[in-house]
Amino acid sequence: MALQYDYYLFDFDGTVADTGEGIRRSVAYSLEKLGRPPLDEAQLDRFIGPPLHDSFVEYCGMTDDEAEEAIRVYRERYVDIGLYESALYPGIAALLQALHRQGAYVAIASAKPTFMLERLAEHFGIQGWLDAISGTGLGRHSADKQDLILSALPEGADLSRACMMGDRRFDIEAAKALGLRAIGADYGYSLPEELAAAGADEVFATVSDMSRWLLGGEAPRGLFITLEGSDGCGKSTQIGLLKDYLIRRGFEPVLTREPGGCPISERIREVILSLDSKGMSPECEALLYAASRVEHVREVIEPALKCGKIVICDRFLDSSIAYQAYGRELGGAFVRQINEPAVRQVFPDLTLLLSVDRAESRRRMAKGAPLDRLEIEREDFFARVQAGFDALAEAEPKRVKRIDASRSIEEVFDEVRAAVDNLLN
Ligand code: TYD
Repeated sequence: MALQYDYYLFDFDGTVADTGEGIRRSVAYSLEKLGRPPLDEAQLDRFIGPPLHDSFVEYCGMTDDEAEEAIRVYRERYVDIGLYESALYPGIAALLQALHRQGAYVAIASAKPTFMLERLAEHFGIQGWLDAISGTGLGRHSADKQDLILSALPEGADLSRACMMGDRRFDIEAAKALGLRAIGADYGYSLPEELAAAGADEVFATVSDMSRWLLGGEAPRGLFITLEGSDGCGKSTQIGLLKDYLIRRGFEPVLTREPGGCPISERIREVILSLDSKGMSPECEALLYAASRVEHVREVIEPALKCGKIVICDRFLDSSIAYQAYGRELGGAFVRQINEPAVRQVFPDLTLLLSVDRAESRRRMAKGAPLDRLEIEREDFFARVQAGFDALAEAEPKRVKRIDASRSIEEVFDEVRAAVDNLLN
């Protein structure tokens, strides 16, 4: 569906990122250093969003000169420490990315100094989706919000084709005065009723409600990332690191695994992997993996992708190709056919294939949990599994990224992150 507007402007603090902690701590630091009485948490919250100068004057009874000195001391702490005591609101990165991908003009209009906004955009990895970053200089007279909005837009932009998202009345009032559509982000630092009272055209309580509205009823499409590799290749560690990284970048990753991932599929998993199932026919095994996958896709993966989440799955169809088609020698056609009901719905956007040689894999497994029914297979089985993974990497080099996992955790994660960044950007 086509977007409603051409230009999408975002306030930063309280709209794109929760920068509260760094601002609160740095205001408290400044007041303490200047020997001023401390403020409580709710009073400190009011500093988030509006120009600092005005807040020091209004909430601390300072003169203009005293407020400038308070800002100087505030920055002693804020620039190197407080700036990074912040996080993107979950779902914001996917929204910016979706708008950018659909050809919209996306910009930041904030009363924060421009160099800080630029640093934060880079820190959070969102700069590639922004057409402009309009903040203030470091001078005494901070620009008012209307000027910031105008300088965030290209010259001659039709203001009726623009909307401004913000969490404080300053954002809403400035947008309305210029004739932009004013969208209230009520998940930020607004006071009760503040945004409606300021004349917001729409007010949203969550990023996901706002995203759905901005994107014309559709949540941004999620991404499906799978990790594959032979047993003991270190997938779990890398999945944990990737999850933390994506949260830092403002995404909402959903972690899951195969076989398993939902109640029915976890029960199938027990049957497949249990040593009590020794002697199970290869066909039965392949069908059970496929059955567990159908349920898992329907119950977990597809719904999460539909609401714009990034799904990270520990093994997926490629494992069935490597273990059942190659390892059990059932052939690719049969395995693909029985998996059709699952992969008709979803297919990985990116597969990270962590490879270690068999000796290293055995060494790592010896240190871990007791071996399951597949892990006690003979060596020729694992050689065929490895050949299966190699064939997949060769056949689909764009989707399947092979990573040498015999190196340190950090080195492997550098490559994992680079591949995921490449997909996101
Ligand atoms: P698991 O304990 O999850 O192993 P790992 O930590 O190595 O992923 O067990 C899953 C086992 O199931 C693993 O040996 C690979 C195998 N498997 C298949 O044979 N086919 C499949 O389709 C999947 C998903 C897994």
